[in-house]
Amino acid sequence: MTDLPVVNGVPAETPPLPGQCLRTYLRGEGWFGVKKGCDAGDCGACTVHVEGVPVHSCLYPATRALGREVTTIEGLGGAELHPVQQNFLDAQGLQCGFCTAGMIMTTAALDEAQLADLPRSLKGNLCRCTGYRAIGDAICGVKQADLVPEGAAVGRNLPAPAGPQVVTGRARYTMDTAPAGLLQMRLLRSPHASAWIRSIDTSAATAIPGVHLVLTYADAPERHFSSARHENPDEDPQDTLLLDRHVRFKGQRVAAVVAESLAIADQACAAISVDYELREAVFDPESATAPGAPLLHPGKGPEKFVADSTRNLAADIHSHLGDVEAGFAAATAIYENTFAIHRVQHVHLETHGAIAWTEGDRLVVRTSSQTPFLTRDALAKLLGLSREKVRVFVERVGGGFGGKQEMFVEELVGLAALRLDRPVQLEFTREEQFIATSTRHPMRISVRLGADADGLLTAMQVSTVSNAGAYGNHSTGVLFHSCGEAISLYNCTNKKVDAVAVYTNTLPAGAFRGYGVSQMAFAVDSAIDELARGMGIDPIEFRLRNVVRAGDELHAIEGELEDVSIGSYGLPDCIDLVQTALASGRGEVAPAGWLVGEGVGFTMLDTTPPGGHIAHAQISEAADGTFELKVGTSEFGNGTTTVHVQLASTALGVRPDQIRVVQSDTDHVPHDTGAYGSTGTMVAGKATLIAATELRRLIDAAPADHEPLTADGRTDGTPRSVTFNVQGFRVAVNPATGELRILFSVQAADAGTVINPMQCRGQVEGGVAQALGAAMFEHVDIDDTGTVTTPTLRSYHIPTFADVPSTEVYFAPSYEDLGPMGAKPMSESPFNPVAPALANALRDATGVRFESLPLTRDRIWARLQAVQS
Ligand code: FES
Repeated sequence: MTDLPVVNGVPAETPPLPGQCLRTYLRGEGWFGVKKGCDAGDCGACTVHVEGVPVHSCLYPATRALGREVTTIEGLGGAELHPVQQNFLDAQGLQCGFCTAGMIMTTAALDEAQLADLPRSLKGNLCRCTGYRAIGDAICGVKQADLVPEGAAVGRNLPAPAGPQVVTGRARYTMDTAPAGLLQMRLLRSPHASAWIRSIDTSAATAIPGVHLVLTYADAPERHFSSARHENPDEDPQDTLLLDRHVRFKGQRVAAVVAESLAIADQACAAISVDYELREAVFDPESATAPGAPLLHPGKGPEKFVADSTRNLAADIHSHLGDVEAGFAAATAIYENTFAIHRVQHVHLETHGAIAWTEGDRLVVRTSSQTPFLTRDALAKLLGLSREKVRVFVERVGGGFGGKQEMFVEELVGLAALRLDRPVQLEFTREEQFIATSTRHPMRISVRLGADADGLLTAMQVSTVSNAGAYGNHSTGVLFHSCGEAISLYNCTNKKVDAVAVYTNTLPAGAFRGYGVSQMAFAVDSAIDELARGMGIDPIEFRLRNVVRAGDELHAIEGELEDVSIGSYGLPDCIDLVQTALASGRGEVAPAGWLVGEGVGFTMLDTTPPGGHIAHAQISEAADGTFELKVGTSEFGNGTTTVHVQLASTALGVRPDQIRVVQSDTDHVPHDTGAYGSTGTMVAGKATLIAATELRRLIDAAPADHEPLTADGRTDGTPRSVTFNVQGFRVAVNPATGELRILFSVQAADAGTVINPMQCRGQVEGGVAQALGAAMFEHVDIDDTGTVTTPTLRSYHIPTFADVPSTEVYFAPSYEDLGPMGAKPMSESPFNPVAPALANALRDATGVRFESLPLTRDRIWARLQAVQS
């Protein structure tokens, strides 16, 4: 028999299974540093060395490794850190860290020539978080991390506490475990966009040896819920069943199979016979709201928080301020246009996944979630358990961007584990991510603006049609939020907003970085820019005449902004910083014959979501001189753990390495609404600061030989302030091909006290990179049968190292009284001004206003041709 592979110097214990890829084999052997981001060799997260040669192990047959030396991230450096691992720590070339092992393994095998051409050498390794600058720095040996041996940690470049575990592959994500007796779940999904299930025959599936359970609509609790998680669950339409007879989009789950292995589960899914009654489907909001359109949720009304099921409305908003028609009558210039913002996906490298098991009469769920506490509450309600009978906990999360504020997997494994009394695992494939999880809400937004001869706005009117998809998760909140900050950013006494979120037979939209603001900002800021140009006023000057100032009240829609005020006001500094950077002339030189233009985008974002966001923290002295800090918020790459350590150590006056953080476990940590709405610093960080400050006070008041002390902190996320971000671009456009090239990119952020400049810069760079992908080429494409035609990373295409220009990042000097030690959040907001700034620069270069995204080469070329002909 051929020798087994030797992995990191250790002979493997079991032979590969027939057809098994090397990645699955290695993970089965316990080498969990090898990550699964796709199954197609697109992301590089699974990169290992075979006889010293880097390979994408998801494409490499495990049998080819027989008798060969295989090295994973765990074995790269032996007893010491490999120099590349050390470099990634020194430069903090990581955020969520899910890509990091693959990046390091690829880099460690590069020769000098390859190191000199990173855009080409790293084309097979994707990172969704960092924007690649920090990764490039790491590879080039740039040192940024500051170990802060003594003194206040706030304001320093403290490295992430989990960094050593991430770069060595020892950090544990949700799927990096294999409890004894683990069973695998697969889902059978609908091939139809609209159908009624007359019956399901599971007999052939259940007869297959190794199949333990097949769940269908007949097994599902009758309780409707929303996959969206909010502190107040009534904010979302309760329109979803765990498994439903009514199929509303292609890819909706129809049955769940639990088996000894994925291969058996796949076989069983194929053996299930479903009798569908096909129904008429509607794929766009206009068709869905037309008279006589098929109804997606007939009979659901206010009791389920559905706005109007007779018109397929998941949510609607109608609000006004002053008299908008009088405002237009008083205007000397009016601009109106309709903007189309497309569907994009989060593409966190770690897909959705969860493992559930029972402990006595309790259900335990280990999941990749931004909201463990709200998921615990939802599971308890849905499965008919008391809260105390459910524990949800989160290990390290491989990216979220809002996509993990949903419950897509936990309820299925929870129900199966309760039925079987065995551990059950469900991990989505990359294709399932694209066809059946959530996206950004596509929107059509009509904007009408009026201004007087002085360039002051007299009227703002916005009408939005949002495509909710088949279910209303987050549709109400996203709609409200989209009608908030982008409109309240400008002073105007006459405003009118009409907005609807419409059910269609497409995959559901949901929470996405910016939570609706990026869509509205593209429309409103583009219209502001065009109105100014039409009036012969410099677009920045026009904005300055109209933008809110410190002390102004904020007005958008009724009830939305009552607890929001402008606290620290860094907007003028942001504008100065961006203008100065653009005026410097720095950046690439445009090729001869290309059109060159500059543009900016302004955005504002509330520091906290409305409606309450609760965070608790508890910090305790330990006998060994360390402190245990318990917080509920999840760490998904946004760096909140580092920020909490910095806040706590500074308040206590101790070293950061004396703080140990315990987080995201409903059994061990007080309630936290979750990691979203940029609340990890602003709300949870404040709870940490309150607790640490109180503990300092207690220690100072206690005798030197006191018993270990504990203190608590709590915040509820109100009142709220706002952050500002200004993005600037200089671009060049090839009029012959439509190619758009970014010559210079700069963003200035009003982040208050910057707790960790290195991390905060990374958040901005990552936000700009993700937004550039969305603005320039990313697009979830759905054909006229409701099929997602971009179900792979290769067809969807997120930015690679080569695609992302460097962005200069500046922070306005400001101090936010409402934030912890003056800080404001910076997770979502850097995304929002990118698309409008790019479109405004494109307009400056070409004279053409682009009303729809993405700004692909083909579309730019077609518009330029149309204008010239
Ligand atoms: Fe690269 Fe998150 S740090 S994917």
